[in-house]
Amino acid sequence: MSTLATAQAGLAQKGYLDLEVDPTLDLFEEINRLKKEKNAIILAHYYQEPDIQDIADYIGDSLGLSREAARTDADIIVFAGVHFMAETAKMLSPQKKVLLPDLKAGCSLADSAPAPLFKKFKEKYPDHVVVSYVNCSAELKTLTDICCTSTNAIDIINSIPADKKILFAPDKNLGAYLIKKTGRDMVLWDGACMVHEIFSKEKITKLMLRHPNAELIAHPECEEHILQMASYIGSTTGLLKYTQRSASKEFIVATEAGILHQMQKAAPDKVFIPAPPENTCACNECPHMRLNTLEKLYLCMKYEAPEIILPEWVINEGRKCIDVMMEISQKAGHIH
Ligand code: 13P
Ligand code: SF4
Repeated sequence: MSTLATAQAGLAQKGYLDLEVDPTLDLFEEINRLKKEKNAIILAHYYQEPDIQDIADYIGDSLGLSREAARTDADIIVFAGVHFMAETAKMLSPQKKVLLPDLKAGCSLADSAPAPLFKKFKEKYPDHVVVSYVNCSAELKTLTDICCTSTNAIDIINSIPADKKILFAPDKNLGAYLIKKTGRDMVLWDGACMVHEIFSKEKITKLMLRHPNAELIAHPECEEHILQMASYIGSTTGLLKYTQRSASKEFIVATEAGILHQMQKAAPDKVFIPAPPENTCACNECPHMRLNTLEKLYLCMKYEAPEIILPEWVINEGRKCIDVMMEISQKAGHIH
């Protein structure tokens, strides 16, 4: 066994928690060196900690990240995001090595829809088109007709002939929002994101009174009573772009707080306030996304592990619903 393979096997068993990184190392320099040496690309979601966003080659929302994963010519994709995103990248680029700094970086929304339970649920609606939010497992994607992200969800639903019934999974909040926006009657799976469900209507109201010129903007994974108060609803990219084009100088942002880093960078003269959660915890930071750290990113590039491995049938079957989504997204002008 090669030295690299031995190190990988060890890491696969014990994980990274026991490994110490020399605190004198300049991690930015080391990661950039490894990137060149290994022809690797770092794709990061907006919910990653600022340091990871700053070292990434591409920062984006779920749709943008999928597009980059599909078109990169790098040998290694280092996915600074959560498990379902890295799985999607693997399905789109099966010949590439896809790494996730911490394999435990999951997603409460994806976990709310275990594939075997969903399979049984789906059997009750044999004549329904299954649309799944990309925040779901690779296995759930094998049970899905069309995938969607928060950027393209309205166009995806509108692309389905009016006489077809729709079953939407796993996010009931995004589902309810889509019912309202498209007028379609949909059966919803009862799932939700732990971060977007925690925002406090009462605290946001108080904050708006203290900042009368601030606009509340929200991600569609939020509950309806929060969305009703918002002046703009959109995906992370949508929210970021809106803060740049709006004449407002102050924003209360109801989504994971990581996005504020890019908002502030793009508009340094504007004020961005993270929407407060129900209690005093930092619950507007996703505990899954935040498992990735610069240290783990470095280790994962050094040892080329943990790697996302999927059975071939999952890649082949799961990819179909993503391909349909990509085609509709392209026609709708969401990706080029
Ligand atoms: P988008 O990246 O599509 O805005 O979704 C946000 C999210 O919840 C990712 O986990
Ligand atoms: Fe999942 Fe919510 Fe975290 Fe996004 S923010 S990864 S939907 S738990």
